[in-house]
Amino acid sequence: MEIKLNKINCISGMIEVPADKSITHRAVMLSSLAEGNSVVRNYLPSDDCSRTIEAFRQMGAEIKIDDDDLYIKGAGLKLTSPHSGKYDIYAGNSGTTTRLLSGILAGQNFETVITGDDSLSKRPMQRVIEPLSKMGADIKSNDGLLPLIIKGKNPLKAINYENDKSTAQVKSAVLFAGLYADGATTYRESVKSRDHSERMLKAFGADVSVDGNSVTICPAERLTAQDVTVPGDISSAAFFIAAALIVPGSNLIIKNVGVNPTRDGLIEVLKQMGADIALTNMREVSQEPVCDIVVKYSRLRAINIDASLVPRMVDEIPVFVLIATQAQGVTKVSGAKELRVKESDRIETVTSQLKKLGAQVESLEDGFIINGDSGFNLAGAVVDSFEDHRIAMTLAVASLIAKGETVINDSHCVDISFPGFYKSLKDICR
Ligand code: S3P
Repeated sequence: MEIKLNKINCISGMIEVPADKSITHRAVMLSSLAEGNSVVRNYLPSDDCSRTIEAFRQMGAEIKIDDDDLYIKGAGLKLTSPHSGKYDIYAGNSGTTTRLLSGILAGQNFETVITGDDSLSKRPMQRVIEPLSKMGADIKSNDGLLPLIIKGKNPLKAINYENDKSTAQVKSAVLFAGLYADGATTYRESVKSRDHSERMLKAFGADVSVDGNSVTICPAERLTAQDVTVPGDISSAAFFIAAALIVPGSNLIIKNVGVNPTRDGLIEVLKQMGADIALTNMREVSQEPVCDIVVKYSRLRAINIDASLVPRMVDEIPVFVLIATQAQGVTKVSGAKELRVKESDRIETVTSQLKKLGAQVESLEDGFIINGDSGFNLAGAVVDSFEDHRIAMTLAVASLIAKGETVINDSHCVDISFPGFYKSLKDICR
């Protein structure tokens, strides 16, 4: 399905973005593993999160959807085998479902198969297979790719694991497996990745301690049901922040956005570039910092971003590259090789599609070089999302400043993380 979008005058008003995808996945998982009745308020009803909900329903959790909330009767740490049909668990497009679930399945007394769509079937799984095999799980794959056949073991062996990659999905898989281990499991990473799992595990009663970039978890006999409220997703807010910053005359308030310090790299970088962004009404909701964001059109200066910052804005880099096409000077992004193994090869897809709109962007093996002086010359064209939600949304924001009409092919994929994206965008366009 294609969508046709046109240049607009400005962005203004007040909006709320959908709930955080990472936090929704974790809330469904831990509520399903807990004993008792949990409530997940303001969950994200997106395709990816539905895959996690379905998987845990198959394994014994009772999950009722009531408007924006989930009522979950947990199955306890020992799940029931999901045997139904040929393939046991279908993870769709969701890397988070697959990798986090692998950690939980590693500690079960049954065998499970995880499959996914074409994009997920090309994404690397060796990164979870390796630590979980060290812990004693028997995992077979198609040469590091899906399908994963996971034969769990209980108890697993506690390990000390060091990862030179910054990845919250692998960290979370090891921590979840650590719940089923025979002693304390420690995971250490070079640059801290998002820490939603650590925060939520503690809230559900797990014994978790954090020391810099190192996390230790002790085995658990049980987790206790919680009432979790999910904040708005900063990775979804990023598209509206970008729109307000690059469309002249814009002024926007985005309410209820999670600003966990492991996720707020985009805001820090934009402020350094001269962006007029204010965080107001700062508060804490279910162990996560939350605020309202006020953002106004700004003349921006180019900047350099490297591996020390990338993990804090990894999902925002596609839209950041678009913003950089509007900043004075040359921006360089390096240390972002991970983008090559996301829902699409985002270094290639961002570069090729923004070029179609007239931007001066070159790809590097691990990033981008963006010449901002091309900024005012974007022009509409026919572009492809490559079925990658964040590419579709980046191109939709680009269309707001591109002369003429932009046609985005396979535009529906925004439902992976942001159902209703095009309507929300339309509501604030003047
Ligand atoms: C996620 C972690 C990140 C991120 C993804 C969600 C998570 O992936 O890109 O969208 O919820 O843990 P990596 O762990 O591969 O960096």
